[in-house]
Amino acid sequence: MNPAGNGREPVARPIGFPALPDGPDGASGPWNAADTLTDHDRLARGGAARWEPLGMSVTPALDLRGIGKSYGSVKVLDDVAFSAYPGEVTALVGDNGAGKTTLVKCIGGIHPFDTGEYRFEGRPVRVGSPRDATRLGIEIVHQDLALCENLDIVENLFLGRERRRGLALDEDTMEEMARTTLSGLSVRTMGSVRRRISTLSGGQRQTVAIARAVLWDSKVVVLDEPAAALGVAQTQQVLEIVRRLADRGLAVVLISHNMNDVFAVSDRIAALYLGRMVAQVSTADVTHRQVVELITSGTSGEPGKRR
Ligand SMILES: Nc1ncnc2c1ncn2[C@@H]1O[C@H](COP(=O)(O)OP(=O)(O)O)[C@@H](O)[C@H]1O
Ligand SMILES: [Mg+2]
Repeated sequence: MNPAGNGREPVARPIGFPALPDGPDGASGPWNAADTLTDHDRLARGGAARWEPLGMSVTPALDLRGIGKSYGSVKVLDDVAFSAYPGEVTALVGDNGAGKTTLVKCIGGIHPFDTGEYRFEGRPVRVGSPRDATRLGIEIVHQDLALCENLDIVENLFLGRERRRGLALDEDTMEEMARTTLSGLSVRTMGSVRRRISTLSGGQRQTVAIARAVLWDSKVVVLDEPAAALGVAQTQQVLEIVRRLADRGLAVVLISHNMNDVFAVSDRIAALYLGRMVAQVSTADVTHRQVVELITSGTSGEPGKRR
């Protein structure tokens, strides 16, 4: 059951404890954390807040704990906890150099982390390569999109995962799947699925990149700054797609610098500051200003209260 199937209700809230239910697997961790700090305390200390969804227990699709990652002698991620839930958009925010891309690369198996625990749908897993991540249903839409300009939409969607009928490519099936996926995502049509990428606008390219991620049986989709290079209307379109993915039950992680976008579309916000997760809060419980403070200083004046 996906309690957040409509993407908004019930909204998961920060927990104020101490009475926490055991997790579905009875494991220790966020579900029966022994501490009794409130979110306020945690934010004030710079520690990561954790939540319990309202009303019922939901296993996070993605659950990282104690993640450490160094490049040479530089510690880029330090004891990072991060969760993403089915049916929700989790915004990952932080200043340049905070470690967002590094965390995404750990999630996608591009740069496996040095220490820490990676759980997927409640099970400990090893994600040592992009293939491991893909196999689990974790797809990353990288900032540069990595589309092939000279190929058409169908070819890009199925690049490296082509459908075949015997020895030949099954073009009809691939076209049909492309059409279905795009019409399920698109606010507006982009015409023929045989258009070359080089003829598409920035927003349309972003849509193709997202379609490529969700064409497969994905459960977690991570989008790195999908609206960074887009105009207002196209940004709106991409945000609607992001919301729709969550409403379909996917766990969506959105990296963004734009507070308006973050507040428009996210259910939770996770803030990285110099490689540490300084807050994971319900979007409804924080203000723009508090999030900006978390990003710039790692702490927030009066967390948990709207101003
Ligand atoms: N391959 C790398 N080798 C060495 N340092 C790196 C590498 N990639 C990132 N870093 C460093 O790690 C820190 C975090 O970078 P990054 O994850 O890209 O941050 P963000 O995406 O939040 O801007 C930065 O200080 C950056 O210089
Ligand atoms: Mg980055």
